[in-house]
Parts: sequence; C-alpha cells; structure tokens
Amino acid sequence: MKNLIEEINNTTSFSSRVIREYKCSKCGELIKVLELVINDKVRIANRCKVCDDKELEREAVQAYNNLQISKRERLFNDFSLISEGLKKATFDNYHPTNEELLKAKQVAKNYLNNFNRINGLLFVGDCGVGKSHLSYSICKEAREKGISSIFISVPELLTQLKSTFNKNKNYTEEDLLSVLKNVDLLVLDDIGADYPTEWAIAKFFEVINSRVGKSTIYTTNSNAKELASKVGKRNFSRMMENTQIIKMQGDDYRLKNLKK
Ligand SMILES: Nc1ncnc2c1ncn2[C@@H]1O[C@H](COP(=O)(O)OP(=O)(O)OP(=O)(O)O)[C@@H](O)[C@H]1O
Ligand SMILES: [Mg+2]
Ligand SMILES: [Zn+2]
Repeated sequence: MKNLIEEINNTTSFSSRVIREYKCSKCGELIKVLELVINDKVRIANRCKVCDDKELEREAVQAYNNLQISKRERLFNDFSLISEGLKKATFDNYHPTNEELLKAKQVAKNYLNNFNRINGLLFVGDCGVGKSHLSYSICKEAREKGISSIFISVPELLTQLKSTFNKNKNYTEEDLLSVLKNVDLLVLDDIGADYPTEWAIAKFFEVINSRVGKSTIYTTNSNAKELASKVGKRNFSRMMENTQIIKMQGDDYRLKNLKK
C-alpha cells in the first residue's frame, strides 16, 4: 500500500474509478473495488478498510501485551533472587514433616484451585519450614494456569528501590510499582526481615495499598504482633484484609542432614 501511494505521488498520469461494490463477508462493510491507472499500468485496489483497521488494532494490542509480559518476565528474573534449592520447588516435592505442614500444603493447593483474584495468604513460621517453597510453588503453578504472578523478596525489593534504581535503564521505579500493582498474584517473601526504616515502611505502604482488592501472598518469620510493629499498623491492617493465616512450625529443613 505504501508503495502504491508513493507511486501515485510520483506520477502525473493517474486515474481511478469504482468498478464494483460488494459487502465484506467478514464485517459487512461496503467495499468499493477501485481500478487505478498509474502511468498506464492498471492496478486493482480491493481491500476492506474496516477489517484492515481491526487487524492493525489487534496487532497493536498484541504488541502492547507482549511488551507488558516481557517487562514482567524481566522483573520476575531481576527481583526474585530465588536460591537454586527454591527454583526446583513444587507442590510434589514438598514433603511435610508434621501435621501442621501437611495442612499448610493442602491450604496452599486449595488456594490456587479456588483462586478468586481477591483473597491472600500469610505464611507465618519458623526458618526453613517451607514458607517460600509453598508460595513459590503457588506462583509457578499460577503461571502455568495463565494467572500472572511475581515472587519477590521484600528485602531485595527495598534494596533495589533504594540504591540501583536510577542507574537501571531497563525500567523505572514507576514501571516496577505498576507491574507489582497489576499482576494477578503477588508473592511478597520475607516481610519484616529487615530493620524497618520510615522510608521502607512508606515504600511498602505504596505497594500494599496498590494491592487492595487483589491477591497477595506474604511470608514472614515474625508473629502477628511483631509483624504489626515491623511493617507498621497501617500496612498490617491492609495486609490482613481477606487474608488467611497459615501457621508453619517445624524443624528447619535446611538442617535436616545435620540430624542424622
Ligand atoms: N518439607 C519440605 N520438603 C522438601 N523441601 C523442603 C521442605 N521444607 C523446606 N524445603 C526446602 O528447604 C529450603 C528452605 O525452605 P524455604 O526457603 O521454603 O523455608 P522458609 O520457611 O521460607 O524459611 P525462611 O524463614 O528462612 O525464609 C528450600 O530449598 C526448600 O525447597
Ligand atoms: Mg523464606
Ligand atoms: Zn471487512
């Protein structure tokens, strides 16, 4: 089409006439078939403008979605900081060592099977019992089901926000916050692990507040009271809305070989 327009622009001998009209079989729009004579050469123009526009629009939407997805993948990779052990984590290779952990696994699986885009989970418990393991498993399986999800370590997130952001040319702080806001399921791992500063609490609030009405999973070592004081009352109150607490007590799986 572009070439044709160029040709028309570059010629002095040009004529056109409608030789036929019919309705587009796809959209019903009236198509006028044009016979163009350019420098004595005859061309037929026979396309549906409405369908062409729709096609263009579809391509643009697809390109936009791909861009969003690739941004999400990049963020997922840059922020997750997932240890090699955790990368392999699945529901199947989580072997609960007591009743409470068995129940935690069941609740985690049910949560995903009944995913409603609103409810959240808070995994609370000892070190190395599988809080990150189960939440990462949820995250991975969610992605397989077409639910967009990001697993992010909160200490890492705060470090990134504080230091490297301006130097990082791949995306801005705004990009990051908007992805965290819009993803279907966000896992915020290890909350309350750091010393809270006013700045950290405020940043955390921005994220938590943007997630109101959406599914978020939290993991923490702190009990409810400690957590409330670490993340601030306002954050804690928002976090607990529509959130089910899963207690996980048990032996540290990382140390299991020491015992034998
Ligand atoms: N019951 C289990 N079965 C199989 N692997 C486990 C189990 N529990 C923990 N693991 C593995 O042990 C390691 C530590 O678990 P995970 O990181 O989930 O602990 P956590 O509860 O998040 O601990 P922390 O509070 O220190 O973050 C991971 O590599 C995980 O895959
Ligand atoms: Mg963890
Ligand atoms: Zn058409």
